[in-house]
Amino acid sequence: MKKYTIAVVGALGNVGTEMRDILEKSELPIGDLVLMDVAQNTGKKVRWRDAEYSVIEAKPAAFAGVDIAIMSAGEKASLELSPEAVNLGCVVIDNSTAFRMVPEHPLVIPEVNADSLENHRGIIANPNCSTIQMLVALKPIHDKYRIKRVIVSTYQAVSGSGQAAVDELQKQTHAFANGEEILTEVYPHQIAFNILPHIDLFLENGYSKEEMKMILETAKILDPKIKITATTVRVPVTTSHSESLNVETEKSFEIEEIKTLLAASPGIELEDDPANNVYPLALNATGKDAVFVGRIRRDFSTDNALNMWCVSDNLRKGAALNTVQIAQELVKRDLVRVP
Ligand SMILES: NC(=O)c1ccc[n+]([C@@H]2O[C@H](COP(=O)([O-])OP(=O)(O)OC[C@H]3O[C@@H](n4cnc5c(N)ncnc54)[C@H](OP(=O)(O)O)[C@@H]3O)[C@@H](O)[C@H]2O)c1
Repeated sequence: MKKYTIAVVGALGNVGTEMRDILEKSELPIGDLVLMDVAQNTGKKVRWRDAEYSVIEAKPAAFAGVDIAIMSAGEKASLELSPEAVNLGCVVIDNSTAFRMVPEHPLVIPEVNADSLENHRGIIANPNCSTIQMLVALKPIHDKYRIKRVIVSTYQAVSGSGQAAVDELQKQTHAFANGEEILTEVYPHQIAFNILPHIDLFLENGYSKEEMKMILETAKILDPKIKITATTVRVPVTTSHSESLNVETEKSFEIEEIKTLLAASPGIELEDDPANNVYPLALNATGKDAVFVGRIRRDFSTDNALNMWCVSDNLRKGAALNTVQIAQELVKRDLVRVP
């Protein structure tokens, strides 16, 4: 079987670290692993499987001989390095926002729209973390009952803003407990013991960029006919995003049918036994691969509608795991080539 050289760019970051962990246990036929990061980290040693790897600087020439590059170093690095990598024959799977809404580049969640990989031109975009978990949960419902409208409210973990935000939550919590001054650097307000209805920049239409990402990416990945509105919120949780989903369908359903359907669908785990306090929790989802759904109940305010709670690890299914699954799908379909 052919083996592939895989590069992780931003290999020492939050998502890059999860990526190395997932690749270590994955069944991808990896011949060699190339770890790239900023120049200052050149030469840092990382153990992976049974060997020690040296981090190299992410620059165009470093992509020669790489089959698949997983970019996880921010939008600027993706925009600069991805076209150069593709010119060298490397297929890029990009975690940033750089290429998500470019029509010719597929935006892929393997459980939802893997077929869109077939016509890729060298760059495949990984969707926003909040979109990924929502669409894994919605896809089976849409296939069977046709979704008309979705109202989503998110409760997003600070690790979605990188390691600096994780550090800020810890420092503020410590300062609060010790009666010390609370300093804010990453967010415009204190995040410890607070909730911020603000993720990414605000746009002229009153929505945040994060909210618009969920709306536009749903249209590209699942169905442009679905009406969707979003409110995205940062909460003082380290890892795993939670979402409240209100879903209206064209066809009628029984709640038990929805539970059975979701429990049997790829990538989903049903945790729905409220009488015994069983429902998805951020702490329990962290470090796991699934999208957890629960609190599934009828919305009595209108016809054919339901509410549910959806939780997933934003660094794994929301980022690193989804990119590795895309790489697996490319290998399975023999699509590791630049047309
Ligand atoms: N965290 C999430 O939930 C999530 C979800 C989906 C997508 N993403 C995306 O994934 C990417 C990484 O996120 P993260 O949370 O892992 O951020 P992070 O913890 O800040 O890690 C980014 C890593 O990339 C390095 N880097 C920065 N510029 C680089 C360059 N030009 N070339 C090579 N390496 C460079 C950084 O080094 P320095 O620290 O020295 O700058 C750091 O090691 C971002 O595009 C983010 O939008 C994140």
